[in-house]
Amino acid sequence: MKETPEEILKLKIRSDDVIVATYSKAGTTWMQEIVWLVCNNANTKEAKNTRLVDRFGFVDLPQFSGAGIGLQGLENWPNDKRRFVKTHMPIEFLPNELQRAPKGKMICVARNPKDNCVSLYHFQLMNMMFPNPGPWDQFLVDFCEGSVQLGSWFDHVHGYWQLYQQHKDNVYFVTFEALKKDLKGEVTKIARFLEEELSEDQIDAITQHCSFSSMSKNKSTNYSDAADAGVFKFNVSKFMRKGEVGDWKNHFTINQNKAFDELYAERTKDWTLKFEFEAAE
Ligand code: A3P
Repeated sequence: MKETPEEILKLKIRSDDVIVATYSKAGTTWMQEIVWLVCNNANTKEAKNTRLVDRFGFVDLPQFSGAGIGLQGLENWPNDKRRFVKTHMPIEFLPNELQRAPKGKMICVARNPKDNCVSLYHFQLMNMMFPNPGPWDQFLVDFCEGSVQLGSWFDHVHGYWQLYQQHKDNVYFVTFEALKKDLKGEVTKIARFLEEELSEDQIDAITQHCSFSSMSKNKSTNYSDAADAGVFKFNVSKFMRKGEVGDWKNHFTINQNKAFDELYAERTKDWTLKFEFEAAE
């Protein structure tokens, strides 16, 4: 997209909306499942029985038929039910009511750019809705230049980081690496942010349900229906692929890593946001 379609810009945000905003492959699905359970009394039974794409609306795709709830579904969402919204759009493409002084509660997830790039590459290889990403070497160059679907990772992530800095009451920011390091601790913080009172047992149930092994087997979260429909080629790569920090080491050559580190140092030199590139001990 070069500019946001008018119908997205005009979307009315409700004061109790929960919005999960990410660069694609940063842990969106993971956070969606956490958020939904936190806001629904840790009802893991209902979460297993209802696809995540039918519990969240995807605002970026005005015509999202068949594969879940799109913009129209968000507009028609019953007023007496809390609305769950997912977006990958850079901040400047968001609905007007989310851009500067966001309404509702927004949770942003960001992932270190090396793993984010690797995960995106495998996703584009297996997702028939995307053009083939070509060879890894070229894809990495494209990612560094921001010549990929969502544009520059640097601009995208920093935009949300700045929004968080300005609106901490209703914007929360967490990294994929922090979720990996202490999932239970992060679930607890997210519940506090969303002002949901959960018991220790409920927090434990969410943490267990949202582990990588559990979500990879769960048909409501692992996108196996998209594979059954031929949209995702699971023989190429799974949606729940590895779920690790540091898989970039299996893809980046020494020279690619050196060049990326230089770019990263330059582009993030003024940032207060720092990323982990290694798995925690
Ligand atoms: P990998 O491709 O590195 O495995 P998104 O939901 O934004 O598309 O992100 C998908 C990435 O998040 C994939 O990364 C996927 O495996 C990972 N992921 C999803 N659920 C996870 C979980 N419960 N624990 C760890 N990683 C998870």
